Order: sequence, then structure tokens, then C-alpha cells
Amino acid sequence: MPDRPEQDNATQPFLPYGKQEICDADVKAVVEALCSGWLTTGPRVSEFEKAFANWCGAKQGVAVNSGTAALHAAMRAIQLKPGDEVIVPAITFAASANAAVYEGGVPVFADVEPDTLLIDTVSVARKITPKTRAIVAVDYAGQPADYDALHALAKERGIAVIADACHAPGAVYKGRKAGTLADISCFSFHPVKHLTTCEGGMALTGNADIAAHMRRFRNHGIDSDHRSRESSGTHAYDMRELGYNYRLPDVQCALGLAQLARLSGWVAARQRIAGLYGQALAGMTQVASLKTHNDRTHAYHLYVVKLAEGIDRDQVFAKLRGEGIGANVHYAPVHLHSFYRQRGYGPGMAPIAESVSRRLLTLPMFPAMTSADVHRVVAALNKAAAQAKQD
Ligand SMILES: Cc1ncc(COP(=O)(O)O)c(C=O)c1O
Repeated sequence: MPDRPEQDNATQPFLPYGKQEICDADVKAVVEALCSGWLTTGPRVSEFEKAFANWCGAKQGVAVNSGTAALHAAMRAIQLKPGDEVIVPAITFAASANAAVYEGGVPVFADVEPDTLLIDTVSVARKITPKTRAIVAVDYAGQPADYDALHALAKERGIAVIADACHAPGAVYKGRKAGTLADISCFSFHPVKHLTTCEGGMALTGNADIAAHMRRFRNHGIDSDHRSRESSGTHAYDMRELGYNYRLPDVQCALGLAQLARLSGWVAARQRIAGLYGQALAGMTQVASLKTHNDRTHAYHLYVVKLAEGIDRDQVFAKLRGEGIGANVHYAPVHLHSFYRQRGYGPGMAPIAESVSRRLLTLPMFPAMTSADVHRVVAALNKAAAQAKQD
């Protein structure tokens, strides 16, 4: 780190762990949509679907009103049946597993690689049974999982590979972009993510039938929407299955389209900030950056570090918060939440996830961060980690 005067962090602005950027062009696009006469499913929905799918290199996009809805639509589209097992990494946001439960599926928690927190393919292989119907790979923090290894396990057994790519727009695996790596790839447009539509999400796929099924599912299971009925001059429709109202409104798609113009720049900014963190943390013995595999490009939704054994993570967290730094934790193992414990899950199911998760800390990461912000975080982290050594 460069020599610089001691700063009084308490007088500096709060640095959240993630933050959206809204500019005049976003506001203009939203106001135009509001005044266009289309508030819910209008022309901007398919425009946004095509533009985001195209940005990721995927054939089909289905816009929905959250990343969770995208995962749920994926579970329906692969025709998950009650009792089917879905392998999910133990370290992820609960929605990755909950989507299977919505359809009566049974999440089976695989362990994670200790240095990347990505789903461990050896653990996946051990957890496959005749009931396994899908593997949900989470591109944790923005780094793609090992899709070639997962497809090799899945293909001959007829298991679907679903990417929870909510952290990973712009990430690359062996030259292929996130959004093209699985049978269905799910993205979130929550405000802390790379691109926001306030709430929102999208499922990408190369399969037109699967896309059509997810479009129906997001609209109550109905086989047409009001625009297509209007253009074909009919009032009739059929509800073919039980679906949900998971539609993403036109106004929010207008915001997504405006944001998309800046997405590549944001990915690059996140990668630059990660580089600064990497350099600043390189000499520290108490804190380690997570590993990036050589065959992957990380999109850095999150910048996660691992504290050395013997450092009390929650003390470090509290000290950073006290200095106006919005540290966070991603994640406690999903199978240890009460909901899952009450259903028979518990400690011992994913030992690496259970031990490493206690040492994880997420540092602020958003495109507008300056190098001074990064150095402020690292200086505070250094101090807090030194003070938080357990006896
Ligand atoms: C890994 C992961 N999966 C799924 C989701 C769910 O996305 P949403 O909040 O848009 O429903 C999130 C969002 O926090 C996430 O981080």
C-alpha cells in the first residue's frame, strides 16, 4: 500500500458492500416507458430479453420478476417431480435450493472447494443417486463453476445442469460466457447485482421449447399473453398448467435496457477493483483473497476474503461496520438454516462449507469505488484482523 496519512474513517461516508448506479439515461428511459402506455408486458420485455441474451451470447431469454423466479421457472421447465433430488452447493443464497423445494424437489447439499467456494465436483459425484434430476451450479461471487466436469457427470445420467449465474454476468469459462454454460442459466437484477431492474431476473437457454415453457410458467401457465391475443384478434386462451405471476413489467425492462449499455464497463470496473484488492491484500498473513481458476474470468459481483484460523470473523465484521465499512457475509451454509434443519438437514453434511463459512467476509465491491476506497477498506481490515485474534 502507498504511504498515506492516517484517516479518520468515522468521518468518511459509509461504503456499502454493493451499490447500483442510476444515471439520467436510466431515468429518461423509465419515464418514457411510463408515458408510453405500456406498464406491464409491453414491447420492452422482449427487447430486453433479446438484448440481455445477446450480450451473454445465449439464444433465448425469459424475463421474470426476480432471480428466484428464474430458478423456479428452471425447475418447472426441466419437469422436476416431487421427490426428485437436486444437488446444490452448501454455500449459496437460500433461493438456489428453495427453487427445488417449491416444486416438491429435495435439495441435496454438495460441499464446496475450500479456496473458491465453488461447488466441488468430487462431492457432487458422491451425492448423485438414481433420484438426482438436476445440479444447480452457483457461480459464487462471480466465478463460473466447473461446467465441463458437471456436464460430464450429468449427461449420461439425464441430469439437467442449471447455472445459478446471479453473481456472474460477464464471467467466462474456457472462452464461453456465463449464460451459455448450462441447460438453463439464471440471473438476478436485484440492486446489488451487476445490473438492476429494481427487482428482476432472467433465465437464458439455448432450447426454444424450454424458453416457451418458462414464458408460460411466468404468466400463470397461460399459453399466450394479452399482446399476442390482441395482435391475433382473439380473446381465448388456455391455462395449461399451474403457473405464477412472475412477469417483469415494461417499465423495469426499460431500466434494464438502459443499464445494459453500461454493463461491460461495470464488469471491467469490478475486475479493476478486484485487482487493487488483490495487490493490497497480497502481503497480509491474516487475510487471503479467494482463488481464481486460470481457465476462468471472474465477474466479481462480490469480493470475498477468508480470514486466517484464530481470527474472530464477527469481531472483524463489527469493527469494520464501526468504521463505516459495509462488510457482509456470503453465506452461512444453507442446510444449517432452521427451515432445512427442521426437515432433517444438519451439521456434517458439507464439512468444508461448514468450517470455511465461519471465516468468510465480503468487502465492499461496486463499480464507482476508487482506489482510495479500496485502501481505506484494506487498512481497516488489517487493523481489525490484528485486534480480533482469538485467545
Ligand atoms: C446466488 C443467488 N441466487 C439467487 C438469488 C436470488 O435472486 P433475487 O434476489 O433476484 O430473487 C440471489 C440474489 O440474492 C443470489 O445471490
